[in-house]
Amino acid sequence: MRLAIIGKYGQLAQAARAYSEYKNIDLVNFSRNDLPMEKHPCFDALQSFGPTHVLVASAYTLVDKAESEKGLCLALNTFSIGALSSWCIRNNVKLVYPSTDYVFDGSIGEYRFSDKVNPINFYGKSKMLGEVEVARVPNSIIARTSWLYGIGANHFPEKITQAARRNKKLNIVDDQVGSPTYVFDFAQRLVDLMQGDFRGVVHISSRGTASWFDFAYKLLKLKSIDVQLNRISTENLVLAAKRPKRSILLEERWSDLGFGEMPHWKDSLRDLYLQYKH
Ligand SMILES: NC(=O)c1ccc[n+]([C@@H]2O[C@H](COP(=O)([O-])OP(=O)(O)OC[C@H]3O[C@@H](n4cnc5c(N)ncnc54)[C@H](OP(=O)(O)O)[C@@H]3O)[C@@H](O)[C@H]2O)c1
Repeated sequence: MRLAIIGKYGQLAQAARAYSEYKNIDLVNFSRNDLPMEKHPCFDALQSFGPTHVLVASAYTLVDKAESEKGLCLALNTFSIGALSSWCIRNNVKLVYPSTDYVFDGSIGEYRFSDKVNPINFYGKSKMLGEVEVARVPNSIIARTSWLYGIGANHFPEKITQAARRNKKLNIVDDQVGSPTYVFDFAQRLVDLMQGDFRGVVHISSRGTASWFDFAYKLLKLKSIDVQLNRISTENLVLAAKRPKRSILLEERWSDLGFGEMPHWKDSLRDLYLQYKH
């Protein structure tokens, strides 16, 4: 396998690179400067590397801002993916596209890979349209995941840790439920999966479910940070984008695909916390 990862400094880009290097996979990362995806992307750099597989770790991921930056969001999550899909078809390259639980509206609560999508915010729509483009590529994987965390300063555990150090009380939403997924768990499963013959849509999230409150509570307990946590409902927040109330990604085929279950989110969070301590 010769792997091109589009994206270099994002969470998934870094985690996928680290795991691929561990597996001795021949790879290159393209940052947004190497391969800008927002305007008529040019794939000359990809062409000269000659990948067998492309992982699109680049995306517009600002869920609320997407409501007012629709053009940029579509350019990154849909139009560039359309151009890349055509390039992959022409060059017979396997395309791997991460997607999101936000393609679902949250009304059913638990979703199989084949369930009907119905996004309720613009980010989710742009990712759904990206999925449609990728589905044109015969050799492709659409891998939906949820609530990614683990690298950098912008993920939920890091933001909560910083907020808890600045405040005595925190109000955390308790009526949105999902599966927090450690980005290294996602990257590892994704890279292992793309090395095999699997094609199509798959759900790759940690086991177990949590509200944002549960997630914050467990994190702060692990880190022994003492702060008063209050449960609030989504209605108490003024956010530009709607969120699904409950979007659990089910995947019942792991043993058929030759894999074990995904780790439980609480175990991965604990492992990450232990890592921080050393
Ligand atoms: N974060 C979540 O909670 C979550 C949940 C479900 C699904 N997902 C999906 O998982 C994937 C990875 O998310 P993430 O959390 O790793 O995202 P992230 O940390 O926000 O990283 C975004 C990536 O996009 C790249 N990028 C941004 N603008 C670009 C441009 N104009 N041209 C080229 N590249 C550009 C960045 O490039 P540089 O490397 O140059 O900075 C970076 O690598 C995305 O497809 C996302 O939709 C994320």
